[in-house]
Amino acid sequence: MYAFSNAVNSMHSEDVKRLMKQASGKSLISFAGGMPNNDLFPVKQIDEIYNSLPEDTKKLGFQYGPTSGYPPLIKSLESYLKNKGLAIEDNKILITTGSLQAISIITQEFVNEGDIILTENPCFVGALSVFETVGAEIHSIPIDKNGIDINALKSKIESLNRKPKFLYVTPNYHNPAGIIYTPERKKQLLEVLSGTGIILLEDDAYSDLYFNEDEKHLIKPMKSFGVKDVEIIYTGSFSKILGPGFRLGFMLSSEEIFEKAETVKQALDACTSNFMQILANEFLAQQKLEPYLTFLRSEYLERKNLLQKHLETYMPKEITWNEPKGGFYIWLKLPPHIKSTDIFKETVTKGVVFVTGRTFDPASRKDDRLRLAFSNMPKDDIEKGVVILSETIKKALKTSEATIQ
Ligand SMILES: Cc1ncc(COP(=O)(O)O)c(C=O)c1O
Repeated sequence: MYAFSNAVNSMHSEDVKRLMKQASGKSLISFAGGMPNNDLFPVKQIDEIYNSLPEDTKKLGFQYGPTSGYPPLIKSLESYLKNKGLAIEDNKILITTGSLQAISIITQEFVNEGDIILTENPCFVGALSVFETVGAEIHSIPIDKNGIDINALKSKIESLNRKPKFLYVTPNYHNPAGIIYTPERKKQLLEVLSGTGIILLEDDAYSDLYFNEDEKHLIKPMKSFGVKDVEIIYTGSFSKILGPGFRLGFMLSSEEIFEKAETVKQALDACTSNFMQILANEFLAQQKLEPYLTFLRSEYLERKNLLQKHLETYMPKEITWNEPKGGFYIWLKLPPHIKSTDIFKETVTKGVVFVTGRTFDPASRKDDRLRLAFSNMPKDDIEKGVVILSETIKKALKTSEATIQ
């Protein structure tokens, strides 16, 4: 069992390394990088913020800070989270170096080798590589267009002879599936976990990036539902809204979980960059975030619409997908006999890359999907990329038909 999990281990870490490389490949048409758009970063606003900082605050930026985070940023985050319906009350915020560090800290806090973690299938590959690195036994539960499969989750929990340490989910604008859980599905998920003692790790990296103001209510975090008998750790990130180069994330948890997490973080990196926390705090405190998000939402919506339009025009009818309502991704479904890895091998020779379905399967097997990120795409490249991709898929469909006959 362990030899198998080690083999998978290196697979997902290698996937992550390869993805980071491909995502920054210059001459490629890349649907691969799950990252914000280079041309949309708030460079001017950050210039202005830095230049207007008092000398003492600039100096503070060069210094170590408290492990839990820069106190003014924690204050600003409290209002930001209150706007999402998250009452801070008995909870505490820990600022982390990216939200991936929060996932990593929580994993170190709760999981030993061989412990069980429940995930969605598909699942954010960065989290998978964290879970695999500690030697966790991962059990995944399928999702559909409305969220996690509730019956599959129930049966999974009933079938296990040990209690999973936590369930990790990304309910808002899922990476890679692009879906948002319906409010009903969020409620049902909490009902299933209620009384089981299984912690819910709610990863909310994308919720600010909805496309339609009327659907804002859908992003409501499960942690704000007021359910008392499910322990929920909520994580968020500045990566998709200010830029991953900030390496800024945070977790909101009970005081007890916070205390241990702070100790783990102290040993990891002592504190998150004061410099970046100061800049992010000013961005929030000077009310620059909301207007910037309004701008980002319309830019990403435009890219999503372009990708959606070209997919509708060029893809054969056998290829299906759900149109996302926010976030960065479209998750294409291939007929079961076509492998996304085979499509990739062909498109990469023609200069088009994306992320294969099996990358997001904890068992690295299910390969009938592919993830297209529209976020960091030059608008002019989208059509060209879709044409190459659809021609490759059509060719694979023809070949498979010929083989079947
Ligand atoms: C679902 C999800 N969670 C967390 C992260 C990690 O973000 P950060 O840059 O804050 O570590 C990502 C980044 O791609 C993500 O897609």
